[in-house]
Amino acid sequence: MTFKNIFISIIFATAMIVAAFMINNARPKIEISQPGPEYVRAVGKCAECHLHETSAIVHQYSMSKHASQNVTCFECHRPQKRQETFNHKGFTLARNLTALNCSQCHSTEYDQFLRSRHGAPAWAAVTGSKGFTAEQIEYAEKYHPGSIMRPVNKLAIAEGKGVMEKGCLACHSVGMPNTDGSIGTCTACHARHSTSVALARQPETCGQCHMGPDHSQLEIYNESKHGVLFALQRKHLNLNASPKKLTTRDMPVPTCATCHMSGLEGMNVTHDVTERLSWWLFSAVSKKRPNYNLGQEAMKNICLKCHAKPQVEEFYREAEVVVHSTNEKVQKSVELIADLRNEGLLTPEPFDEPIEFIAFDLWHYYGRTAKHGAFMGGADFVQWHGNYELLLKMVEMEEIAKKLRGLSISEMK
Ligand code: HEC
Ligand code: HEC
Ligand code: HEC
Ligand code: HEC
Ligand code: HEC
Ligand code: HEC
Ligand code: HEC
Ligand code: HEC
Repeated sequence: MTFKNIFISIIFATAMIVAAFMINNARPKIEISQPGPEYVRAVGKCAECHLHETSAIVHQYSMSKHASQNVTCFECHRPQKRQETFNHKGFTLARNLTALNCSQCHSTEYDQFLRSRHGAPAWAAVTGSKGFTAEQIEYAEKYHPGSIMRPVNKLAIAEGKGVMEKGCLACHSVGMPNTDGSIGTCTACHARHSTSVALARQPETCGQCHMGPDHSQLEIYNESKHGVLFALQRKHLNLNASPKKLTTRDMPVPTCATCHMSGLEGMNVTHDVTERLSWWLFSAVSKKRPNYNLGQEAMKNICLKCHAKPQVEEFYREAEVVVHSTNEKVQKSVELIADLRNEGLLTPEPFDEPIEFIAFDLWHYYGRTAKHGAFMGGADFVQWHGNYELLLKMVEMEEIAKKLRGLSISEMK
């Protein structure tokens, strides 16, 4: 290489670098508008000492609205009526904190929560009415007939106590009856010290419980257009926006919270997650809820903040077609099991014969998934994880039924 060539190469390379730099600078800047939570240095005896003990808690608290609004450590930790206490560095504190400690300042949220299926019905779904006072039962039964007055769940019994506590109840404790007379916990969605609305608006927060084949809401959401857009745009969203002033500028894409709870553009925030629903989708054969019209209207009003009416109506119409056709398929399997019981070919006990597990999976996994997929935009769940499996499981059940019937006839001979 000659000197001249080297010189030309250097000039060329420099020109390329300058050009690349200019092109880069010419790109429009993307605005990142998600403000982080404000950090307020916590003061007071609890915080100062705890900065040396369990300091993460103080940092979490320092990022909360509570810190900026001067809600102190003690205000949450002081004992409420009927709470067990302990003495701690000159303070009398509550041994366990529950929804009661939050409800002293947030009674509206607590009352809404109490009316929802996140309240007492969630716990009773596993353990039945045990552990509730007569008054609590009456209250919850008024809003959700049959949700409390039911026996301990048969599957939970079959699986045993240890599993019930670390499995079923770990999720269903969102509505646990507390010894102080209150119900449930607020920290499942807000955490204890950051008490964050941003956290509660994250799909993964709901997905701690709302996942898996029997209620695949998180997986469905993640594959829906909403979920995919959210994953792309989350850094441009204002997840910390005050619920009282939440606009589609803050959240142009919905998360679980937006559809089921948020006060988008002047709508009321609700902690009653039941309020915007119109079908009992979790049931084997789904029926309309008593407040079908109100529930559906409330949810559609949320859709309508971002979509046009014909699109929303069409979406609901199609989803309801899936509910009806799933109902028919599940009904067929329910009838087959009932017939086999009547014919004396199955014991009266559930969960002791293989065909009963297939029948259970049929509605509990595949039927539910198909319906949830249809309402939340998960095509794969309507079809491959839903209807395909419904078909397959029904064929399997019919095959077993044939064998059971054949066997008994030959036995009778
Ligand atoms: C002089 C220091 C000091 C002060 C003041 C203090 N704490 Fe503590 N706190 C501690 C220490 C040390 C522990 C034990 C940490 C451990 O077990 O690792 C503790 C533990 C706790 C626990 C857990 C107790 C348990 O048995 O589970 C809570 C809750 C707590 N503190 C809350 C508070 C609150 C609220 C205040 C103010 C009203 C406060 N603390 C004031 C030092 C302090
Ligand atoms: C918004 C209410 C709230 C505020 C404010 C609050 N806490 Fe707590 N704190 C809780 C709850 C709820 C728990 C969980 C208690 C339980 O499970 O019984 C808890 C638990 C704790 C624990 C035990 C945690 C563990 O994992 O071992 C400590 C220590 C504690 N808090 C200290 C503090 C300190 C120090 C402050 C102030 C800087 C504070 N808290 C402010 C609600 C609050
Ligand atoms: C002593 C009163 C008090 C207690 C106790 C209390 N809070 Fe708050 N909370 C407030 C105040 C005041 C605000 C700020 C309200 C505002 O700015 O609109 C607030 C705000 C909040 C917010 C909204 C935060 C945001 O970013 O907009 C949440 C969520 C919350 N609290 C949850 C809880 C939970 C959960 C508990 C119990 C573990 C609790 N609070 C206990 C007074 C309290
Ligand atoms: C991973 C968390 C999780 C676990 C573990 C779990 N559930 Fe659930 N369960 C849920 C969620 C979320 C729903 C709501 C489903 C829906 O509405 O689509 C639900 C719904 C139910 C329902 C229907 C609603 C009702 O009130 O009748 C019953 C019954 C139920 N679960 C019982 C159980 C039993 C029994 C176990 C253990 C054998 C269990 N669950 C384990 C999260 C869980
Ligand atoms: C700690 C576990 C847990 C978390 C976290 C949780 N849920 Fe649930 N959720 C449940 C259980 C359990 C049920 C079923 C209650 C029942 O009917 O027995 C339920 C039921 C529901 C229902 C159906 C109510 C009905 O009337 O049938 C909706 C909607 C719902 N949850 C939405 C949400 C949203 C949105 C979030 C997040 C902001 C969330 N959940 C977070 C456990 C949880
Ligand atoms: C775009 C709005 C939207 C989003 C986002 C959304 N949902 Fe839903 N969800 C719906 C609609 C619509 C229904 C069916 C309502 C009905 O019954 O009329 C539904 C039904 C449910 C049910 C079923 C209740 C039953 O009867 O079994 C649960 C539980 C639920 N959603 C939880 C979640 C969770 C958790 C997320 C996030 C992972 C989520 N949803 C995201 C709109 C949404
Ligand atoms: C299922 C999850 C969940 C549970 C359980 C829950 N919250 Fe919330 N909470 C949310 C969501 C989501 C928001 C934000 C709603 C929005 O986007 O507009 C919120 C908002 C709030 C706010 C701010 C409301 C406002 O209008 O500014 C308060 C205060 C609050 N929650 C308190 C509580 C209390 C107290 C409890 C217990 C009784 C509780 N939350 C239980 C999910 C939950
Ligand atoms: C906060 C705003 C918001 C809410 C609330 C909302 N959506 Fe969406 N939705 C979007 C956005 C943004 C897109 C992507 C739109 C685009 O491509 O222009 C979308 C896409 C969709 C799509 C997919 C369209 C396609 O091209 O595949 C459907 C279907 C849909 N939404 C239905 C609903 C229904 C039904 C509700 C109420 C239960 C709802 N949405 C609530 C913002 C929202």
